[in-house]
This record gives sequence, structure tokens and C-alpha cells, in this order.
Amino acid sequence: MLFKDFTPLLGDGAALRQVVDDVARRRQGTVDVVVGMEARGFIFGAAVAYALGVGFVPVRKAGKLPAGTIRADYTLEYATASLEVHRDAILPGQRVLVMDDVLATGGTAEATCRLVESCDAEVVAIEIVVEIDALRGRDRLAGRDVHTLLHV
Ligand code: PRP
Repeated sequence: MLFKDFTPLLGDGAALRQVVDDVARRRQGTVDVVVGMEARGFIFGAAVAYALGVGFVPVRKAGKLPAGTIRADYTLEYATASLEVHRDAILPGQRVLVMDDVLATGGTAEATCRLVESCDAEVVAIEIVVEIDALRGRDRLAGRDVHTLLHV
């Protein structure tokens, strides 16, 4: 299994600021809310939301959110999993930025986009810190505005 450790980036104040400011500069004025996926998408997504002055909505693994949710299933390498969002967290017509740390197979990002679109909101863009090119996750996001800071 390929494992990328993000804690050194999070621990480097200048690097963390550079990542967040880069995304915020690109998306300024174009989104109403940032959606981030558990767990490391929370860290980057919440920081970007703060920089943009918009709200943050967490997408969580199934069974973690306290109120009424909608669910999207997706396939992992050897199994299936589910993601959930509070059903009233994203409003119809909102412009949504999806933010996560890693794009691998693309299942997480693709399921998150389905959740957003189930709310009749629009995925304006997907921002990723690191894309693992060999896993071709981008293929599952064809036609979407996907921006990645680093490729491995
Ligand atoms: C990792 C990563 C992304 C996802 C990408 O999270 O943070 O969210 O996998 O993989 P994919 O493109 O193949 O879907 P993980 O599922 O390991 O959850 P965690 O952050 O809670 O450990």
C-alpha cells in the first residue's frame, strides 16, 4: 500500500499557508461553501473556507454525523464504502468547492460530487493537494475542474 504522510506539511507553517493561499487565490469569489472529506480534507478544507470567508461542510464516513444525512456509496480497491453529509448542509444552487488532501482512485472525490449534486448544488471545482497519477483517479472526474498542487 502506498502511504503519503502529510504531517510534515501540516507542521510547516509557511508551507501550510502557501497551500491554503494558493487555493484561496484561485477560487476567490467563485464559491459559496467548501466541502472537505474525512479526515485530512477537513484540515485543508476548513483553512481554505476561512481564507475565502465562506462556510465549511464535512463529508464523513458512514454513521458519524449526528443529524439526518444523505449517503453515497463508492468502491475501494477491494471493498465498498459510504460517505455521508447532513442533508440540509448544502443548499440548492450553492457553488461548492470540494477539497481533499489526496486523489488516488478518485472514489472519494467522485462520491462527494454525487452528494453535492444530490443537494441540487454545483461542484465548481475540486482542489487536491497530491494526485497519485498512476491510479488515474482523474478519469472518474472527467469533465470537472480538477486542480492538483503536486503530482506523484
Ligand atoms: C484518503 C485520502 C482521500 C482518499 C483518496 O482518505 O485522504 O480522502 O483516501 O482515495 P481515493 O481517491 O482512492 O478515494 P482515507 O479514505 O484513507 O480516509 P482517512 O483520511 O479518514 O484516513
